[in-house]
Amino acid sequence: MSREDLAQVLGQLPVGSHPNLIVGSETYDDAAVYKLTKELAMVQTVDLITPVVDDPYSWGLIVGANSISDIYAMGARPVMALNIICFPSKTLPMSVLGEILRGGMDKATEAEIVIAGGHTIDDKEPKYGMIVTGLVHPEKVVRNSTARVGDRLILTKPLGIGVITTALKAGKVSQKTVDEAVEVMATLNKAAWEAMLEVGVNACTDVTGFGLLGHLNEMTSSSKVGARLILKEIPILEEAWALAEERIVPGGSFANLNSVKSIVLWHPQMTDEAKILLADAQTSGGLLLSVEEGKARALKDALLKRKVMAAEIGEIVEDSEGRIRVEP
Ligand code: CO
Ligand code: CO
Repeated sequence: MSREDLAQVLGQLPVGSHPNLIVGSETYDDAAVYKLTKELAMVQTVDLITPVVDDPYSWGLIVGANSISDIYAMGARPVMALNIICFPSKTLPMSVLGEILRGGMDKATEAEIVIAGGHTIDDKEPKYGMIVTGLVHPEKVVRNSTARVGDRLILTKPLGIGVITTALKAGKVSQKTVDEAVEVMATLNKAAWEAMLEVGVNACTDVTGFGLLGHLNEMTSSSKVGARLILKEIPILEEAWALAEERIVPGGSFANLNSVKSIVLWHPQMTDEAKILLADAQTSGGLLLSVEEGKARALKDALLKRKVMAAEIGEIVEDSEGRIRVEP
């Protein structure tokens, strides 16, 4: 479903509030934060996705990386997870379920968290996700709503995953590109989180289902700032360009593009392919970091030292309406 449709339904419900709930759903942040004591807050997130690749083990790895990512995006340390699984036990062998869960388990081990249990139900279409809990000092929460004018925007994974996984389902993409996309999706945002904590940033979110523009817009509108993006600085998986040209694009990416149309100011040279790719739904993307200008070099160095991509893709500018200007 589109971001707008979801916002409309959620907007009709009362917002959950409690004195200890220090980050709720109002700012579309990545996870909820509940203060336990003066020095400790609990961070919680839930994700559930349908398969994006054929190999069940790889899918498990991707689900693990994606589910845990929201905890990293809040600046928190993940500690525990619970599995949620929908599985068609009448049509798929149970060994497939075992492979999916083994992937999730391996990713959890890499993140140094424990999977403490889970819940499985029978369903026609498989779905897998995790509820992940993290811990953070209440004053060290990294929000998406605190970007400041003059900040540099740093992205830690390339875009194009939605287009590539759609092409995979249609059998229209090379194995090399599929492997590359799986590698990107299955990579934990742990090293990026460590670099972020080492240097300190003003705001962070992860780039997932709503695409770069959707998640950046959550940041700009909740921070009451605007942004300027430079297309040629934005890393995009090579083969994604040709696929976008052929319009092998997930429906979600078109919906994303449509939902940001009123807040994005496109340079006249911008092609439709570029627009699609900047809105492309990312199953398990990187962190989008908003860092003050004086710390940008240090952040890039801290990321590169950990072998994490560090693309400076633009900056935060003054604009109370949260608009995003995209230049070539
Ligand atoms: Co997120
Ligand atoms: Co999420």
